[in-house]
Amino acid sequence: RIAYVNGAYVPLAEAAVNVEDRGYQFADGVYEVCLVVGGRFWDEEGHLDRLDRSLAALEIAPPVGRRALRLIASEVLRRNRLRDALVYIQITRGVAARNHAFPMRPVPPSLVVTAKRFDLEKSERLAAIGVSVVTAPDIRWGRADIKSVSLLPNVLAKQAAAKAGATEAWLVRDGKVTEGASSNAWIVTEAGEIVTHPATHEILSGITRRTVIDCAEALQLKVVERPFSAAEALRAQEAFLTSATNLVMPVVAIDGRKIGGGRPGPMARRLREAYIRHCA
Ligand code: PDD
Repeated sequence: RIAYVNGAYVPLAEAAVNVEDRGYQFADGVYEVCLVVGGRFWDEEGHLDRLDRSLAALEIAPPVGRRALRLIASEVLRRNRLRDALVYIQITRGVAARNHAFPMRPVPPSLVVTAKRFDLEKSERLAAIGVSVVTAPDIRWGRADIKSVSLLPNVLAKQAAAKAGATEAWLVRDGKVTEGASSNAWIVTEAGEIVTHPATHEILSGITRRTVIDCAEALQLKVVERPFSAAEALRAQEAFLTSATNLVMPVVAIDGRKIGGGRPGPMARRLREAYIRHCA
């Protein structure tokens, strides 16, 4: 496998950054994960717009323009002979002697792009069964809307899920489910309303989330952006999660208790199909 690191395409095994990279020292950086199917980026503009917003929030100047970034990502795909892939883009503030404040004289940001194979058929098979989630306290900072590489709370929550044999952790703050450790969380109420947490500073505003809302509205389905509790989720008709890595994925159990009879619901299936149709 080949990775792009600061201007060079190198074997992944040799791809490395300086130990004084601020991404390594302080998690002072941001990232994006984009899905590519058949060589085409899904929701490309959304992901690149969010990358710009994350960079702006951290006052990191984009190391390359959007066209160049697209070319680099395409070249990484080409060199890895990938048509269906997850592309990972990471930008950090760069290399400087360790000191919390930004370097006095700005340094060039570090840019890394990698890609790994994505198996859409495998994802379809998983979606036919659904996944389980566990709840975990949301102990993250107040700017979860920035797609920062500082992911320790997410890592710990995901590990708790893995330990419990679940796929995802749904994070709970003040009694409300904010989102998953690496996905957005949704339920479908008895009244048929599709509910997901509003895009505040408490969640990462998912690009898949936004497109799924648009798809739902195009189908004249009712989407309500409001917080919901874990108890409400347990009573829901259906639950599902969204992310670039999962598209729309039915959730069939929360904390070991079945949702929707333990089988994927019609709404999640419909939205998954609509999302795929929209992007493909
Ligand atoms: N995660 N919420 C969190 C905390 C996330 O990390 C992600 C994505 C999402 C969904 O966003 P999107 O629909 O734009 O992928 C929500 C990526 C996939 C990751 O960290 O691997």
